[in-house]
Amino acid sequence: MASTQGAAQVLVASNRGPVSYDVQEDGSLAARRGGGGLVSGLSAIGPDAGALWVCSALSEGDREAVRRGVGEDGVRMLAIPADVHADAYNGIANSVLWFVHHMLYQTPLEPVFDAEFRRQWASYETYNRAFAEALAEEAGEGAAVLVQDYHLCLVPGMLRELRPDLRIGHFSHTPWAPVDYFRMLPDDIQARLMEGMLGADRVAFLTWRWATAFQECAGAVDPDRWLSTWPSGAPRAIEHVQKDGTTHQERITRRTLIGVHGLGADAEFLHARSHEADVEERMAALREEIGEGRRTIVRVDRTELSKNIVRGLLAYRQLLDDHPEWRERVVHVAFAYPSRQDLAVYRDYTAEVQRVADEINSEYGTPGWTPVVLHVKDDFARSLAAYRLADVALVNPIRDGMNLVAKEVPVVSDEGCALVLSREAGAFQELGKDAIVVNPYDVIGTARALHEALSMPVEERAERTKRLAAAATALPPAQWFLEQLEALRDQAS
Ligand code: G6P
Repeated sequence: MASTQGAAQVLVASNRGPVSYDVQEDGSLAARRGGGGLVSGLSAIGPDAGALWVCSALSEGDREAVRRGVGEDGVRMLAIPADVHADAYNGIANSVLWFVHHMLYQTPLEPVFDAEFRRQWASYETYNRAFAEALAEEAGEGAAVLVQDYHLCLVPGMLRELRPDLRIGHFSHTPWAPVDYFRMLPDDIQARLMEGMLGADRVAFLTWRWATAFQECAGAVDPDRWLSTWPSGAPRAIEHVQKDGTTHQERITRRTLIGVHGLGADAEFLHARSHEADVEERMAALREEIGEGRRTIVRVDRTELSKNIVRGLLAYRQLLDDHPEWRERVVHVAFAYPSRQDLAVYRDYTAEVQRVADEINSEYGTPGWTPVVLHVKDDFARSLAAYRLADVALVNPIRDGMNLVAKEVPVVSDEGCALVLSREAGAFQELGKDAIVVNPYDVIGTARALHEALSMPVEERAERTKRLAAAATALPPAQWFLEQLEALRDQAS
């Protein structure tokens, strides 16, 4: 049991927090607030609710803020030693767990679980323990703790040992690996991940597809210990079983419930933000770049291996080959914002995106027409401008927990936008009916879908966009967050 006990009644834990700091030239610290679903979700419970967000200090500015004791109410940053954080975040979270859940390994040579992996795993344990200890220290009696994502899989189990009085939830924003893929991990690591996650009272996912995969993995790792129950009505659960050594009788010691909460787009915020002056300015600049009377195919992503940007470009090239009538009449506006650049594989992928875009431009471009307009500098206002202008949105990930771009575009679009959507994105479950659905590996099929999307009559496009926007906003971030909190409280009381 932690020696001191805090007062927070609702706690969130995630690697990336809602605020980060930059050291200015004069040495002062400037705070930058992050965006995204979690931030708006937490703001829904209000500043007086005794809520606390525990996150990592990620930048030099963040570490400096911790050193100087600068911070925001309701946020606690953990200054985990930089080398430990790098091993846990770059090594295990982003190079192993992210790869497993998104099925990104080139399996003839990868993965290799060697001594280096074991060294990094020890850091992942240390990093998770730092979170568990901070949460144990800050949480009031019986508080609810919502742990986020694959960075912090071990926290629920560690926290339960420190503070059995807490109600602990874990939410995965990623897909969960199919059982055969998950089982590539060393057996003890699989068990460790399950022990960690199943320390929670409730584990939740963005779709039933990922929840089901998790249940299958739990059963496969140790069927004598973890038993999935599949009742026809909700809730599903995983039972923790203990066998009596002499009588061989089984006793259920605890249950972890399985939940699904499909995060939606924040309509109110997006409508307001996308009509601000800086967005209008960027729309004018983009129109200039695209050229008069041309159609646009828009994509906006972090330059992330799972987003499938290169195959998207290849599909566009195929479109220009198969349908030369589109040459000079369409522009592919691709925003690919750098991500996880500490990892060589991400840097290589970023370079490949640039290379293929350049190749298409030199192969097909004419003095008055640049077929691909690629921007890599992160600019949210410009992303919104592109959403408003888009005739077609291309969202073709290899695998994606949800994909919020697919949900944001229909909400923001000025005149309707056809959505080309991968069947492997979580958003497919809610948006599949009104999207043009693609197999993300099939470049020819994606080119065909782009042609279909570009050719869609404007009335049909507008009708579909309305229905897509309604589906996309059905579960706003505030509700997404509150529903999880309520489910956790109801379950444990
Ligand atoms: C995904 C993960 C998040 C993560 C985000 C950005 O959406 O589920 O946990 O924060 O990617 O990745 P980064 O590595 O930049 O935090």
